[in-house]
Formats: sequence, C-alpha cells, structure tokens
Amino acid sequence: MKDNRIPFKRFHERNESLISQYDENYYNRQHSKGKLTARERIDFLMDNGSFREIDAFVKPLGKEDEKQYGDGVIVGYGTVNGRKVFVFAQDFNYMGGSLGVVHAQKIIKVQEMALKMGHPIIGLIDSGGARIQEGVASLAGYAGIFSQNVKSSGVIPQISVILGPAAGGAVYSPALTDFRFMTRDTSYMFVTGPEVVKEVLNEDTTFEELGGAEVHATQSGVADMIFSDEEHTLMGVKKLLSYLPSNNVEHPPVLSVEDVAPGKNEKLSLLLPDDPNKPYDVVDVIKLIVDTNSFFEIAENHAQNIVIGLARLNNQVIGVVANQPKVMAGCLDIDASKKAARFVRFCDSFNIPLLVLEDVPGFMPGISQEHNAIIMHGAKLLYAFAEATVPKITVILRKAYGGAYIVMNSKNMGGDFNFAWPTAEVAVMGPEGAIKILNRKELLNADDPEELKRRLIADYKENVANPYVADEKGYIDEVIDPSETREVIINAFALLENKVEHNPTKKHGNIPL
Ligand code: HXC
Repeated sequence: MKDNRIPFKRFHERNESLISQYDENYYNRQHSKGKLTARERIDFLMDNGSFREIDAFVKPLGKEDEKQYGDGVIVGYGTVNGRKVFVFAQDFNYMGGSLGVVHAQKIIKVQEMALKMGHPIIGLIDSGGARIQEGVASLAGYAGIFSQNVKSSGVIPQISVILGPAAGGAVYSPALTDFRFMTRDTSYMFVTGPEVVKEVLNEDTTFEELGGAEVHATQSGVADMIFSDEEHTLMGVKKLLSYLPSNNVEHPPVLSVEDVAPGKNEKLSLLLPDDPNKPYDVVDVIKLIVDTNSFFEIAENHAQNIVIGLARLNNQVIGVVANQPKVMAGCLDIDASKKAARFVRFCDSFNIPLLVLEDVPGFMPGISQEHNAIIMHGAKLLYAFAEATVPKITVILRKAYGGAYIVMNSKNMGGDFNFAWPTAEVAVMGPEGAIKILNRKELLNADDPEELKRRLIADYKENVANPYVADEKGYIDEVIDPSETREVIINAFALLENKVEHNPTKKHGNIPL
C-alpha cells in the first residue's frame, strides 16, 4: 500500500518519473545492438536487490527546470557475491553516454566514497567521450576523474568494463585503472575515431580494426579480458573480484574449500619433454601446482610468451608469472616484460604473494626489439620484482639464462625462496652459444667439429648449465623433486606469512617508463 500523505506522495511521484524515463524505445535502442541498458548491467553485476543508487535525481547542466534526471550515468553501491563495491554505469541512450559536468561530478563522488571507505570501484563504460556541448567544462570533468583514478591507484582495486564505445577522454580513465574488460563486437576503445584518422592521415579504418576488443586483447594489450557477450563479461568481473582484497591494507579473501588438490603429483615430473629444446605448455604445469580449477589467466592473448594470472594455493590467493616455452621459446620481449611488470606491481600493491615459474632462454634479440627500447621495457620487470615486498617464490623449471635469469625474481633480486627442478639449466647462456664463444678456435681446427661440439655441449651441461652449481653456491635454496612442488611451495608461503619488508621511504621511485 502506498502512503499518500504529502511528503510520501512527492517521494513516490519522483520515483515514478525516474522509471518513466525508460520507455520501450529506450530498451530497444540498446538491445538491437546486442547491448544491455546501464540499469540492466548493474542488475546483472550486483547481488539481487543490493544496489542503492545515489544522485539519481540530479539534473544535467542547463536542464534544471525539466524532469530530466541522471545526466547519463547511474552511480551507487551494493554487493557482488557479498563483497561491497561502488559502481558507475554510463547510459549511452542519453547523449551517447557523453561526459558532461554533472555526469562527471557523479562519477567523482562515488570514486571519492570508494577511496574513503576502502572498497573496489567498477566503471561500466559506454561513452562518446567529452560532451561537446559543454566544452572545456566537460574536459575539466575528465581531469577530475583521472586525478581520482590516480589517487585510488594501489589503494583500492579499480576495474573498467567497456561495453560500447569508449572514445576520446573515455579511454583514459580505464587506462589508469587496474583492469580493462571488453565485449567482442560491441565494444571499442580509441583516442580518435576512424573519421579523424581518415582526415588527419588519410587512412581508412573501421571501429573494429582500430580499437575493437580483439585488437586490444591481442596486439595493444589494452584489454585484459574479453568475452563474447555482456553477461559473460560481467561474470568475468565477478570472478576477478573474488581474488582481490577490498583495499591495500586487507589481504585477499581466503576460501575454506577442503580437498583443494592432491599433494604429491607425479604428473609434474613427466610434463617436460626429454629434449630441452622442445616446447611444452606451462599452463599445464601451473594447473598441476595450484588448487583445482583456480587458475584465472589474465591477458591470455597478448604477449603469449609470458603467462600471468591469479590462482589459489591451499585456498590462499597468489599471483603467477610463468615463461611460456611454447611461444617464442618463452623469450622475454618488450610486450612480455610490460605485461608481467604491470601484473607484479598490481599484486604487490594488493598484498598478493607471487609465484614465478621460470623457463626462459633470454631476452629477445633483434633490431626491432633494441630500437623499440627493450632496454627500458625489460628494466620495468626488473624494477617491479625488485620493488615488490610481498612473498616471492621462484621455481626454475628448465632454462634460466643470462639477464632473463636475473629478472625472473632471482635470489639476489630479492626472491624469498628460490627452488629448481633437476631439469634446470642456470648459466650465463645456453650450451650452443657458450661453446661457440669459448671454443671457437678448437672447433675451427677440429678434424670432426660435430663430434667435438657434442662433447663440449655435454661437458657444459655437466659442469655449468645445471641446477647444482647454483645450488652449491647458494643462488638456489634447494633442488626439489618436481612431484613435490606444490607441497614445497605451500610450506614456503606459509613460512612467509609474517614477512615484513619495507623499501626506503621516498616520494616515489622512478620506474623506467
Ligand atoms: C555529445 C555525443 C557525443 C559527444 C555522441 N553523442 N558522442 N553528444 N558529445 N562526445 C551523441 C550523438 O550526437 C547522438 O545524439 C548520440 O550520442 C548517439 O551517437 P551516434 O553517433 O548516433 O551513435 P553511434 O553511431 O553508435 O556512434 C557512437 C560514437 C560517435 C562512435 C561514440 O557518436 C562518435 O564518434 N562520437 C564522438 C566521439 C569523439 O570523438 N569523442 C571525443 C570527444 S573529445 P542523438 O541526439 O543523435 O541521439 C574528448 C577529449 C577528452 O573526449 C580528452 C581527455 C584526455
């Protein structure tokens, strides 16, 4: 029964006029493009009935006398699988989700609340960028959002979900957040659209080719996760949240699942091919080490020579960084270094311990890599591991050569526990390269160079490229039986539970950008 006393009458009327803004046409316009409306997205993301909208009745600039509410964005708070979150969802049906002054103020308000209260914030983006009609005021609105993104960085998780266009200014807030999700065929991100590209460069391109989900998930690496439709995209966001703490002073949620995975696992000993130059899929190794079905890979299709993702080990969340021998032999190149460095820094910000699985023949050589500054980009990964104070464990599975050995959380870079499998090869370089330099003259003068080469390689492996030299010098803490990897790591992380390490006080470091 409605209470019709005067104050309540007005209360009900207002609520009704909010809902009556949405007619059939409103829904059809989004649905016909395979998209949900802003409100439907929130309903799908949040726990049933948990969403509380704030600022629903604010009016757009210059429309204070009209019954026109919201200014194209819905903001509020609620829960996702019981976790408190703040959310904003842009409404493309109102002026293309463009960002006007009031629209910006609403987003900034929930950003400030999320930061003050220490909860994650999720942005559902569907926007044509700065609202052209409001001019510099809308640019200032973006500036306010970006500043808030930067203040919140490393304090609360910030997740951007691109569910339509993100054009112009709309791209930079997602870029400043921790993760970007996109939906295939209906979402795209670009600083300038195809028309501007044509005008300035006389190049023909399409939305999809310029900034579609596929392009950003593979080539640019801007999108961390892409899905076939909006529902799956939002389910992906829910899953990601389940691994994250609410802020940088909390620890990630711990599950209490019994029977998470077998302890000793003989399959691990059989995964590596006999020939050390043959590839294998490191994801198989990860899955045999972490809790069953807990590996959540991130940026799966970009820089595939390195694998990153969140997982659970004995119910505790960890971040995994692993070289992928089946792509470019697991070499570290520019993209892989950037991908892993950013992930390491994310984990360190949010108290997520790091597990490194190493099988890396070195940095990627070549003119293109050098001219595009592999020196600076490779240094990002060095910087990230050296700076990280969370528990850090490395297991060398096979190759650990040269600079890449050092980078991948080696003992002297601050690894807390460094283990190696008996198959590990730790050296300055691989046998072929080393004997060419060390034995050039003998090989040139040999009667049977092939036979000499075979002998020298065998000697090098026996005396240099194995785990035992490093173990005997203390650069590795223990050579372990692969089948015991899971138990050994669980035990090591348990020992590290009370780890306290601080970097020197400073304004901030100067990471090589
Ligand atoms: C005001 C806008 C708008 C904008 C779209 N609309 N973008 N209104 N400001 N930035 C309006 C349209 O006029 C239209 O209104 C409605 O939204 C839907 O737009 P359509 O073009 O019909 O939709 P669609 O064909 O799906 O194309 C979507 C789009 C396109 C790709 C986003 O609208 C577009 O290119 N917009 C401009 C994108 C852009 O260049 N933004 C950069 C702004 S500058 P009606 O009334 O017809 O329904 C910027 C700089 C900030 O952001 C830099 C900070 C670092």
